[in-house]
Amino acid sequence: MSQEPKRGHFAKEKGEIILREHEYDGIQEYDQKLPNWWLFTFYGAIVWFVVYWVLYYHTGMFKTDHQLVKDEIIAVHALKAAELEKTLATLNDSTLVHEWATKPEVVAAGEATYLANCSACHAADLSATMVAGTVTVPLPGLALNDKVWKFGGKPMDIFKLINDGSPPESTGHNGAKMQAWGQTLSPKQIAEVTAYLIAKLPEDFKDIAPN
Ligand code: HEC
Repeated sequence: MSQEPKRGHFAKEKGEIILREHEYDGIQEYDQKLPNWWLFTFYGAIVWFVVYWVLYYHTGMFKTDHQLVKDEIIAVHALKAAELEKTLATLNDSTLVHEWATKPEVVAAGEATYLANCSACHAADLSATMVAGTVTVPLPGLALNDKVWKFGGKPMDIFKLINDGSPPESTGHNGAKMQAWGQTLSPKQIAEVTAYLIAKLPEDFKDIAPN
């Protein structure tokens, strides 16, 4: 070798190979200059990072994904709150019993929602039990057909309980609380499912007078 290779000295000529001085287990390391196209993308990425960081995090010109998702969630909450307000404007004990629960299509929609979301814990027959062979097994929910309404038995109490879930002060039933169905179901669906319960349990609501 005509010239001792030095650390940090790159091969200037094509084909010229310079090795760094160290060697471990017979393995040596090249000390070549990186190709320009590679350096260009590398320095370009650094410049782009600075531009991006300033534009997105310091000028407010563009929104980050985090902000976009936050805005979207706020918009969805506002929309749901508006829908709930609209439904509540015409919803009361009397309209639930004498308007919603008397329409077969409303009750059928409520039944479909009930079977899809509620029967796993409250049972299709509202008893909150399941018969397995010869034994009757309790399900996690409360019986709805026992005339006992733990959180108030007026139609709007039931609507509110389904919408908001177990109140914070509830210790639950065998330790289990109910989720707020307003998070996943629309106010209309909750009114329909309430109407379905009213239609199935007419005795419990016979005292609600028409408006
Ligand atoms: C994962 C199980 C589960 C599901 C699913 C469920 N619930 Fe419940 N539900 C409960 C539990 C547990 C309670 C008792 C809550 C408490 O004591 O705080 C309850 C209580 C209730 C009550 C009050 C009953 C009473 O006797 O006072 C009503 C009404 C009710 N649920 C309706 C519904 C409806 C409607 C749905 C479907 C949209 C539903 N539940 C889905 C577990 C469930």
